[in-house]
Amino acid sequence: MLTRVEDLLQEVEAFNSSNPDEIEQFRIKLLGKKGDIKAIMAEFRNVPVEQKKEFGQKINILRNAAQDKINELKLAAAETSSTNHGLDLTMSGQPYELGARHPLSVVRNEIISIFNRIGFSVSEGPEIEDDWHNFTALNFPEEHPARDMQDTFFIDPEIALRTHTSSVQVRVMENSTPPIRTISPGRVFRNEAISARAHCIFHQVEGLYIDKNVSFADLKQTLLYFAKEMFGDKTKIRLRPSYFPFTEPSAEVDVSCQICNGKGCNVCKHTGFLEIMGCGMVDPNVLESCGIDSSIYSGFAFGMGIERIAMLKYQVNDLRHFFENDLRFLKQFKTAY
Ligand code: DAH
Repeated sequence: MLTRVEDLLQEVEAFNSSNPDEIEQFRIKLLGKKGDIKAIMAEFRNVPVEQKKEFGQKINILRNAAQDKINELKLAAAETSSTNHGLDLTMSGQPYELGARHPLSVVRNEIISIFNRIGFSVSEGPEIEDDWHNFTALNFPEEHPARDMQDTFFIDPEIALRTHTSSVQVRVMENSTPPIRTISPGRVFRNEAISARAHCIFHQVEGLYIDKNVSFADLKQTLLYFAKEMFGDKTKIRLRPSYFPFTEPSAEVDVSCQICNGKGCNVCKHTGFLEIMGCGMVDPNVLESCGIDSSIYSGFAFGMGIERIAMLKYQVNDLRHFFENDLRFLKQFKTAY
């Protein structure tokens, strides 16, 4: 019996092959269920007691030697195999770095979600817009400076890149009947010099609510809800009278400064407040231009810049960061949704 083990050990030592099939055959012959080692083990009970220990050790040595040899040959065969060009296919891969949403997408999604929760739908319109939807229907007088080449990118005298998402409210009003409750996020274009505070491309969200008996109090409460959801429960808002052609009365909306909590600091220029959007009651002329009877319906509208909200929320001090796609900047928003 012992010599049989010795013989097999020699056989293991002598065996050499780079052919995976041959190696596998050899493994089955030695280590398989009906293999040589199993056969010898079956004889173990016939070995005299005093030899059992030595016999057991020899079998262990044989089994380990066979397994080591097979592993070694398999590895060598895999390395020289022409199909994997010497690559170790069992090696674990390099993990992919996960991307992050762009901060403007994060803020846009958050604005959408805040308004979705109080029943606002999302609507979109074209970025290349005609004069009617961008200006005329919104009550812009012929001589209004926004119609000037210096502010607007014209494609021809009647067609321009939209200068605001207010154009979408015209399209929504033309194509639906009140009640209307919608927000319109999108890209807008203005012929402005690029600086830390301005860009020729930026993003806005327009809001529109039209129904019977909509009042300025409804507008104020909606904006307070938005400000608290976006900037935190302690946030206050302040409305200052303003002018927009498409709303009457109009107001500018400020939120209490996030940095100093309204006490006054450099960021809010010691006023305790920061401007976030324009708003107002939709001018009856606009309702009529869009086919809505202003003697039955009233409504409010508001418009905000997404960059502006993102700058306040994340304390970004230069608008250009949003467009440069520097990974060191973008990576900071990995945990945002
Ligand atoms: N369209 C304005 C702008 O681009 C923003 C705005 C102000 C929108 C007041 C409104 C509004 O709907 O009521 O500056």
